[in-house]
Amino acid sequence: MNPTAVLIPGDGIGPEVSDAACRVLEAAGAGVNWERRLAGVAAIEAGHEEVLPTETVKALQEHGVALKGPCTTPIGEGFTSVNVALRKRLDLYGAVRPVRSMAGMTTRFSDPGVDLIVIRENTEGLYSGIENVITDGVVTSLKVVTEKASRRIARFAYHYAATRGRRKITVLHKANIMKKGDGLFIRCAREEFEQWKDQLEYEELIIDAGCMRIVQNPERFDMLLCENLYGDVISDLCAGFVGGLGLTPGANFGANDAAVFEAVHGSAPDIAGQNLANPLALIMSGVMMMRHLADTRGVAEYGNVADRVRDAYNACLVAGEKTRDLGGTLGTAEFADAVIARL
Ligand code: NAI
Repeated sequence: MNPTAVLIPGDGIGPEVSDAACRVLEAAGAGVNWERRLAGVAAIEAGHEEVLPTETVKALQEHGVALKGPCTTPIGEGFTSVNVALRKRLDLYGAVRPVRSMAGMTTRFSDPGVDLIVIRENTEGLYSGIENVITDGVVTSLKVVTEKASRRIARFAYHYAATRGRRKITVLHKANIMKKGDGLFIRCAREEFEQWKDQLEYEELIIDAGCMRIVQNPERFDMLLCENLYGDVISDLCAGFVGGLGLTPGANFGANDAAVFEAVHGSAPDIAGQNLANPLALIMSGVMMMRHLADTRGVAEYGNVADRVRDAYNACLVAGEKTRDLGGTLGTAEFADAVIARL
């Protein structure tokens, strides 16, 4: 039976890259019934009063799986982030962001290459959205850390590692300064690790020194476990190892196999509507979606679709068929055509 998934095109480059990703998946035989729903600026422009319309939330709750383009969040003022709202409303607490060196993409980190996964806690930390003006010129932004969320993201990370043949988790923190908040996060990570110590290795690094070590020897790292803000920053840092944001997919997982797949990059307003955006990160997120469907629905063919798409985009990169951000000449639509031609 064909799978149903929600498609949120997003705004900025979102509609272009999501159109490209859907075309590639369909050409590979995914046969997805897409339920298109709006969020963010696109929802407001279509006359909705909320950035996350009820019908979008309902569709996500009903189908449990979505492919999502990026959504703009105004800086400083205006509505709160639709991405943060969506992760909180659906309790998509675990972000998974794989970063891998790819053949055909030479960077200064290609030898010996990078293959790591960033696991980001998605629901709290400094993204609690609790900010107060104390008095004129003084504001506070509240960092919320709970034992519940810290334990479940640690369990999620260890389970993810163990079921995918990973070996080592590095927890990044700043518990020397935020002794209570980050202190609780690493205490939970340490305690939950007790149950996995026969299968996995564990280390803790203070995030500033950790960043230096990651940049010096990224190949030493396997999986990075981070609270919300650190995970956001580290994901983009790691994207730089392999060629940039055009190559880093992502997934947000919640309870009951709910999952929203989206690239790490944002809506890139500077290049929106010009057929310049690289759709590969969203195509790769679509591949992650097909693997998730294969695992959770027990349909091997979904995994075959994922393999076909992966082989096709790998072949494109090796042949130099790339978008401009990767040093190539192809536009968004032309790159999708090139992938389809190699399926
Ligand atoms: P961004 O990721 O949109 O862009 C950063 C730089 O990377 C820009 O120069 C852009 O042109 C380039 N870039 C990004 N994706 C690209 C692609 N696929 N192909 C080629 N070049 C690409 O980050 P920025 O500018 O900080 O954020 C723009 C907006 O996106 C903001 O409103 C932000 O809140 C939102 N955002 C949304 C996310 C989401 O929906 N999940 C994630 C990150 C940011």
